[in-house]
Order: sequence, then C-alpha cells, then structure tokens
Amino acid sequence: MSSPAVTDTRNQTDRPIAPLLADRWSPRGFDASHEIDRDDLLSILEAARWAPSAGNTQPWGFIAARRGTPEFDQIVAALADFNQAWTPRASALIVFASLPERAGRMTAWVDYDLGQAAAHASMQAEYLGLRVHQMGGFAADAIREAFDLPPGVLPRSVMAIGRHDDSDDVPARIRQRDASERVRLPLSDLLIHRA
Ligand SMILES: Cc1cc2nc3c(=O)[nH]c(=O)nc-3n(C[C@H](O)[C@H](O)[C@H](O)COP(=O)(O)O)c2cc1C
Repeated sequence: MSSPAVTDTRNQTDRPIAPLLADRWSPRGFDASHEIDRDDLLSILEAARWAPSAGNTQPWGFIAARRGTPEFDQIVAALADFNQAWTPRASALIVFASLPERAGRMTAWVDYDLGQAAAHASMQAEYLGLRVHQMGGFAADAIREAFDLPPGVLPRSVMAIGRHDDSDDVPARIRQRDASERVRLPLSDLLIHRA
C-alpha cells in the first residue's frame, strides 16, 4: 500500500521523508538581529567534517565568519550583486572550498565530496533550528585574494546561515520570493530505471 502524501511540511513531498528534509528550504529573508552561537557554528562545521568522501580523503576546507566581523564583510563583498542584496542579514557565512590535491587518486569525486560536506552542514543547521541558503554566485578570485588562499584551495560555494524572518523588516521583494511556490521535477522524470 502506498503511503499518504505528506502535506503538513514546507515541502509537498509525494512520499514521507525525514522531517528534517521535508522542512528544509532556502530562504533569503534572514533575521538581522539573530546571532549565531559560536558552538552552533562549530557544530555545523563538525557535521561537514564528518561527511563521507571518496577514500576518506576529505578534500575540503572551510572559511567561517559571523556577522559583524571583517571576514563576514569580505565574503559579502565577493558575492554577486543579487546575493549581496540579502546576505548581510544572515548570521554567518561559510565558504566551502575544494582541495583537489588532498584527494590523490580520488580527484574525480572532489566536487561530489564537497557537496556532501555542504549537505551535511545544512542538515546540522536545520537540526539547530536554523536555515541555510547556498550560493554559487560569487567571485572565487575575490575570496582567494581576501583570505590569501594558496592556489590549491578552490572556493566553490558560499552558505548563508541564519534564522528565517518574514516580517516587514525584510524587503517586500525578498519576502515575495521566499513565499513563492516551491517545485520539483516528478520522480518519474528522475528515475532512469526502476526494476
Ligand atoms: C550549488 C548551489 C548554488 C546556488 N547559487 C545560488 C545563488 O547564487 N543565489 C541564490 O539566491 N540561490 C542560490 N542557490 C539556491 C538554489 O536556487 C535553491 O537551493 C533552489 O532553488 C532550491 O530551493 P530550496 O533550496 O529552497 O529547495 C544555489 C544552490 C546551490 C545548491
């Protein structure tokens, strides 16, 4: 017998999935008064640290900065304009970088591994009652320059972390985007083969 559709979560999943996954989404409206606990930020990084990777090579590195620090502002300055419009209200930013040299013979999976580290970090943030929004819209060279990164460290994404805010403090166009319908391709379009 098939399971009933899950309707009481943020995501209209066709099948029940873990609440942490069913409720996850990426807001742009963040609470500018929320301050992330230092231990919570470390827990989010710890979750990334414990992600699986090909051959356990762990080909990743992180730059973490809380709002109100010069490092936070440096990361914001490296973001694309459309991301700069909403990220200053986030509580923390994490740059996810790949370190292909550490992967040795496993270089084919470096980005795959880094994505898993980011996914684990995002789930830990959700577990802590926070939301995250990942970004590819940034200038890697600007991050490299700001943090004097060696050539083998490749910034690949930036994650904003914070508490969602849909109050009037958030610009209306951001609130409208956050409220817009969330969609996914049907599973039938994704299943290449099912036995
Ligand atoms: C690798 C990656 C890059 C992304 N880049 C951006 C970005 O530059 N700016 C942005 O606003 N959202 C960005 N997103 C967020 C996606 O648009 C968002 O995750 C997607 O629309 C699905 O929405 P959901 O996370 O709420 O399920 C990015 C997400 C990922 C995983």
